[in-house]
Amino acid sequence: MNKIVIENLSLQYTDGTESLRGINMDIREHAITALFGPAGGGKSTLLRCLNRLNDLTDVEEISGRILLDGENVLDPQTDIIALRRKVGMVFARPVVLPMSIYQNLTYGLELAGEKRRSVLYEAAERSLKLAALWDEVKDRLDDPAIALSGGQQQRLCLARSLALQPEIILLDEPTSGLDPISTGKVEAALQELKKDYTIILVPHSVQQAARTADYAAFFLQGELVEYGDGAELFTNPKEKRTEDYVTGRFG
Ligand SMILES: Nc1ncnc2c1ncn2[C@@H]1O[C@H](COP(=O)(O)OP(=O)(O)OP(=O)(O)O)[C@@H](O)[C@H]1O
Ligand SMILES: [Mg+2]
Repeated sequence: MNKIVIENLSLQYTDGTESLRGINMDIREHAITALFGPAGGGKSTLLRCLNRLNDLTDVEEISGRILLDGENVLDPQTDIIALRRKVGMVFARPVVLPMSIYQNLTYGLELAGEKRRSVLYEAAERSLKLAALWDEVKDRLDDPAIALSGGQQQRLCLARSLALQPEIILLDEPTSGLDPISTGKVEAALQELKKDYTIILVPHSVQQAARTADYAAFFLQGELVEYGDGAELFTNPKEKRTEDYVTGRFG
């Protein structure tokens, strides 16, 4: 099923950069969709549109529609807080809160009004398990989060967004600073998570895109050049520009 339908989405920043040009894309639920391509293609811009983080940047004009479960995210009436709960985001650099591991997980729920200790504890445990971090931290939940390794901090950020029970998870180069072992753990967690969530990932390399993507979208200078089944796109691209990029001839 399609979770998100993007219709003719265009976005221009105030400096005149046309960062998205007429993007049409259906995004499936319970799958990993990878947005990949060279720097400046519009991948992060598109991710930010999906949870309206672009409201905070210098956007001159945005047009088109992003239908999430049939409702247009770009509608001025959209409840942004509810939207961002439904659409969680994980960034390239993990930003843990200056609190304990446990508090990092419960903070968002407490802000949302949850006070019951058992509910908070269960949410923390469940989300750490989903992010494949539980075994490494279960005996030190009260330690400061900052004491974790970079790879553990990134999985903690993933767990923190999962604690709020989103339906969609956006990840913008979540493993760019991680060693191969930590990267493998994050990728393995995403493969489990996709069974229940809709995952949109900007991978840090073509190799990661090829390893993880059920569906892959190649972006070049604001244009969606090619979009389709991941296995197919990486082995048998239809467009010359996609082929040149995935075979390393440019980019
Ligand atoms: N806040 C902004 N103001 C003006 N221009 C911006 C802004 N953010 C991004 N851009 C421009 O929009 C284009 C797309 O940028 P974006 O960050 O979406 O690309 P990207 O595909 O994520 O690239 P990268 O792989 O480097 O992360 C670029 O030309 C960039 O310079
Ligand atoms: Mg980016």
